[in-house]
Amino acid sequence: MKKRNVITAIDVGTTKICTIIADISDDSGPRVVGVGISPSKGLHKGLVVNINEARESIRDSVRKAERTSNFKVESAYVGVTGRHVTSMNNRGVVSITRNDRVVRPDDLKRVLSAAQSIKTADDRRLLHVIPRGYAVDGQEGVKNPVGMHGFRLDVETHVITAAVTSIQNLVKCIRSLGMDIEDLVLEPLASSEAILTEDEKQVGVVMADIGGGTTDVAVFRDGSIYHTSILPVAGYQLTRDVAIGLGLPFEIAEEMKKKYGSVMPVYEGKSDDTPQPVVSKDGHGVSYQDLCDIIRARVEEIMKLILLEMPSSDYEALIPAGLVLTGGSSNLSGIAAMGRDILHIPVRVGTPSDLNGIADVLRDPAYATSVGLLLWGSKYEGKKQWKTGAFTGALTRLATQFRKLFQ
Ligand SMILES: Nc1ncnc2c1ncn2[C@@H]1O[C@H](COP(=O)(O)OP(=O)(O)OP(=O)(O)O)[C@@H](O)[C@H]1O
Ligand SMILES: [Mg+2]
Repeated sequence: MKKRNVITAIDVGTTKICTIIADISDDSGPRVVGVGISPSKGLHKGLVVNINEARESIRDSVRKAERTSNFKVESAYVGVTGRHVTSMNNRGVVSITRNDRVVRPDDLKRVLSAAQSIKTADDRRLLHVIPRGYAVDGQEGVKNPVGMHGFRLDVETHVITAAVTSIQNLVKCIRSLGMDIEDLVLEPLASSEAILTEDEKQVGVVMADIGGGTTDVAVFRDGSIYHTSILPVAGYQLTRDVAIGLGLPFEIAEEMKKKYGSVMPVYEGKSDDTPQPVVSKDGHGVSYQDLCDIIRARVEEIMKLILLEMPSSDYEALIPAGLVLTGGSSNLSGIAAMGRDILHIPVRVGTPSDLNGIADVLRDPAYATSVGLLLWGSKYEGKKQWKTGAFTGALTRLATQFRKLFQ
């Protein structure tokens, strides 16, 4: 197997680091040859807050994946998240001035370039500029305008920007371990790649990855990304609520939450239905009902926050396919039913599944971002968007978007 046929994804999460090495030489999709999962240190709400600790956690995860695969990781697709990420939709327009008025690939470059000419503050840079659709002479909904005739070409794009300093800390960790960054990918885009169907994206859907430190939200419409946002509340707050509410040490609260936590209404009525207290490994006992009440209140809040992030209050029209939950916290039993009850839209839990090789451990919602990064990488391999020392230059990114169009 040639080396260039192997790619690596590193998901630097708030609670775990997951490295996946996969062989992409086969057309049937990536075949996982190495996985390394390590607890994460030095991160808070998706951001590196202690470079040394974060670097050691990343090193540990990468080494594990290298050992199982027998490959050395030289570069990787890496996820980006955090409150510092912002997104907006923007338009670009150019005129087609050649005599034949035929739209050429060159015009796509120019119009995407026009859509990028937005003012960003010095401390922010473009992370992604994704074309959502084109219009030729005002005719909207064109997916690929090359070859069409017209005087005017418009593009609608989804633009994502991020804070330079936050990204630099992550990049520093990876590079100090001797690895290069193949591409930086916004985590909700990666998770969506792993769990949403093309139909859902076409009809309109919201994906929410409820992880440890952040809830990453992505809205898709007409087959393209429409809105992204990152909420700074997720599983960590659930555990903290349990710890404070029931007077438990954090680790015990985490154990209780994962082992017994549920968002289903516990019981109503008869005393012989009353659930027994639940007990942790080291003998802490708490009321099952109290545990679930606390968790349910916070999950309800998170679900409402997800809908508040919608770019339109008429969310039933915006997202007929409903809400797809993923991330480690979507393992809470009853979460989809609860979502349907309080939001009155379809809700399902998405688990990454379409992987070959040694991928069993990855069939858990907690690995949606990790698997999504890998799928993103296998799709866009060799089309590096990100350059050392700075964010991608507009032209590099344009070239990438341009190549994507012709895949
Ligand atoms: N069975 C379970 N029930 C409830 N919560 C769970 C369960 N399994 C995992 N979790 C929670 O999921 C969270 C971790 O999820 P995940 O691995 O997706 O986060 P992360 O990627 O490390 O963090 P982030 O993406 O927010 O930076 C933790 O808060 C953990 O307590
Ligand atoms: Mg995550």
